[in-house]
Amino acid sequence: MEKLEKLYEGKAKQLFATDDPEVLWVEYKNSATAGDGEKKEDFAGKGRLNNRITTLVFDLLAKRGIPSHLVKRVGDTAQLVRKMDMFPLEIVLRNTAAGHFCSRLGVEEGIDFDEPVLEYFMKNDELHDPFVNDDDLVVLHVCTRQDLAEIAPLAKRINEALIDIFAKIDVKLVDFKIEMGRTSDGTLLLGDEITPDSCRLWDQRDHSGKVEHLDKDLFRRDLGDIIPAYEEIERRLSELAASEGIAID
Ligand code: TMP
Ligand code: ASP
Repeated sequence: MEKLEKLYEGKAKQLFATDDPEVLWVEYKNSATAGDGEKKEDFAGKGRLNNRITTLVFDLLAKRGIPSHLVKRVGDTAQLVRKMDMFPLEIVLRNTAAGHFCSRLGVEEGIDFDEPVLEYFMKNDELHDPFVNDDDLVVLHVCTRQDLAEIAPLAKRINEALIDIFAKIDVKLVDFKIEMGRTSDGTLLLGDEITPDSCRLWDQRDHSGKVEHLDKDLFRRDLGDIIPAYEEIERRLSELAASEGIAID
């Protein structure tokens, strides 16, 4: 597959066209950002780790009956994905109170919910990715009711599968952000990435009593180096994938 012109550059990835109109080439960058890009730093090896982690998570989800846009990983920092018409939405699932849920609602971090919380945010850095509800999305023609009737149950199924995957590697899935789109034949699919940039992952192997973050909160909150944490997630997911018979190169 040939990598052609650059189509888009985001904060953590670049997207390129390929010689197949249905397939895009994604390059994972080493940069980490927080606060809508206000805080930014490069971490050697982050692009390679997130490329591997996303691939492992998407393979583990596929094994659980949840397909994604991933075609295959094609290099250290590169993967091929199916071209989709993306909903400009950050779809957030929360199992435990953390982050903006706590700052917005005055709740203590770490409280487990009785049921998952689904939230939508419009992807718009200038407006700081505003929180929106179903009615907002429908009147703004971002999605139809029918889209939302498909997106919400798929997001919940992904949450169930991810809870299972991370529990198997002794990690608590606190919350995460996903993105979805439709392929040219109209199929709704999970897109973008699932990495420690986009999830809150709390280590359950640490018995010190304090939260051991294995995610980008290390960077957001100046708690330490992200690379050893991302390496740990990559190592544990590789072991799990191998134990499930998933081929990893
Ligand atoms: P929040 O508590 O900051 O709203 O974040 C919820 C989850 O979504 C958390 O796992 C981090 C992830 N996230 C992103 O992937 N991108 C973002 O821009 C934000 C704000 C959160
Ligand atoms: N994605 C957001 C940014 O780049 C930050 C975050 O994940 O908290 O600024």
